[in-house]
Amino acid sequence: CGIIGCAGDDGDMVPTLLNGLAKLEYRGYDSTGLAVSGSDIRVVKREGDLDELVGTVDSEFDRGGAAGIGHTRWSTHGKPSDENAHPHTDCAGRVAVVHNGIIENYQLLRDELQSLGHEFESETDTEVVPHLIGHYLDTGLARKDAFRRAVEKLDGSYALAAVFDDHDEVMATKKDSSLVLGVGDGTYVASDVTALVGHTDTVVHLHDGEFAFLTEDGYTIVDESGTPQSKTGTEIEWDAESVTKGSHDHYMRKEIHEQSNALRECLRDRFSTGDSVSLDAIEDGYRPESVHLVACGTSYHAALYGAKLLRKRGIQAQAHLASEYALSPPPVRDGALVVGVTQSGETADTLSALRTATAEGARTLALTNVVDSTAARECDDALYIRSGPEISVAATKTFASQLVTLVLFALQSSGQTSDETERLVSALTELPEHVQRLLETTAAPTTARRFADSSGYFFIGRGVQYPVALEGALKMKEITYEHAEGFAAGELKHGPLALVTEDTPVFVSVVGDDETARKTVANAKEVKARGAPLVAVTDGVSSIDRFADEVLTIPRTNRTLAPILVNVQYQLLAYHTADHLGRDIDKPRNLAKSVTVE
Ligand code: G6P
Repeated sequence: CGIIGCAGDDGDMVPTLLNGLAKLEYRGYDSTGLAVSGSDIRVVKREGDLDELVGTVDSEFDRGGAAGIGHTRWSTHGKPSDENAHPHTDCAGRVAVVHNGIIENYQLLRDELQSLGHEFESETDTEVVPHLIGHYLDTGLARKDAFRRAVEKLDGSYALAAVFDDHDEVMATKKDSSLVLGVGDGTYVASDVTALVGHTDTVVHLHDGEFAFLTEDGYTIVDESGTPQSKTGTEIEWDAESVTKGSHDHYMRKEIHEQSNALRECLRDRFSTGDSVSLDAIEDGYRPESVHLVACGTSYHAALYGAKLLRKRGIQAQAHLASEYALSPPPVRDGALVVGVTQSGETADTLSALRTATAEGARTLALTNVVDSTAARECDDALYIRSGPEISVAATKTFASQLVTLVLFALQSSGQTSDETERLVSALTELPEHVQRLLETTAAPTTARRFADSSGYFFIGRGVQYPVALEGALKMKEITYEHAEGFAAGELKHGPLALVTEDTPVFVSVVGDDETARKTVANAKEVKARGAPLVAVTDGVSSIDRFADEVLTIPRTNRTLAPILVNVQYQLLAYHTADHLGRDIDKPRNLAKSVTVE
């Protein structure tokens, strides 16, 4: 879900809100809506694309009013529909509210309000909020007090923004869901910084329990007890250009092509003398006794890779799915570090796992792309991957930057003395160039078209290639809607081989010609013997290209870094397959960029 709110004096909030909603589309949504202040609040909301809303606004909406709120909804309580879309209002239409998160006690509140005569129009948890505000207005409270009193009754997670009739002010508050404020050509509130890029270059993060009141003159913030708060802003380094598609058809394609620059940025100034890594986020000489990495989706695959690297360098490390971590957290012993790997820094499951770790007494580190995101603020330290904004729902460049940042982290936190370290550091500095070369020479579009009508796709890899087999399959299923699975190459014969047919291409990554590579080649032969088309992604050192049906080449590099190059081929395969199938690449159905509910 996404929230945008604005107070300004130009008397036409609608274009500003629609522009903000367009910038929030990337988060994933199934319906949209907006409300503008005035003598009557005007609300318009629609299931479906933002274009549906734009069409309705043009034909139906009576413009005017100097305060407005907008929302992109990703359904949790109640199906996608016009009624369930936000904003929601009270019975008398005096207040309109948009909400991200989940109101856990909504049923209780709804029952109480219904017994007082309130009639509800939607199935959402959110609708209790405007009704509660309305209830307190009825008791004679002023707007701000009614808003605050209503919020006091809520359990759960929320970022809320509200507008009232006859009143040009936006009110906002949050708990466990992010909201940022900014002043530029108007006064803004939004669920994430991306929506404010181009409007302001400085943002202020609202903290849990704080309330913000926005007018055309700026905003005031008060804490739970009503005491005014003064805050320093954070500069936004992202420019307006970085949130456009540029000359590309899709954000995903643009972001795949931005990877070499993103990696350069990720590596910049991170070596002190010659080849020794120096990360600001972690003090020199710090050695965690053990590391738990918690993450979801693509970031979980990065965490799996990071854990392998750390273990290889003698540190006990394990990757955990964030949604499972709190259910059986591993014992946090002295010297344990819990790393939240999260591009957005806002994923609810990851934040919850990090909070569990903090409660258990662990030191925490956020490995994230978004400066001052919730994870960055709540953890003891933040290590930034510096990818720049990623708009496409399917993560691409941030995965590459996560892997490289994890390499840097593993080098710094495990002592940096071996020859292998020197080789790795030297290969790191060449990596952006290798990515660039691969993007210029890849045959992935042709391979993708050849197999675009297959009935399923399998990806296999061994060792550090295993996480990218999972990631290759995830990318494929996310944006093509076709069945795709990744397996550890050695596991193939323990079940998945039963699924292999001549209509299910198997993608295998083989790098170098060591024992691991030879075993993977043997697994690939088992697939081929059962009639499946075999696509090898390889640096050309092993014998795999002699019997693969198709070969996608990657430049030769250090074996630890090769998965990053393999993955670029997998990203392109998924992209071109989805393009061939005519899928909605940047906004795949049912998925959201940032999942802020558990
Ligand atoms: C969602 C996105 C995925 C992403 C995951 C974790 O499911 O669709 O692309 O990998 O969240 O996001 P995070 O921001 O925590 O890395």
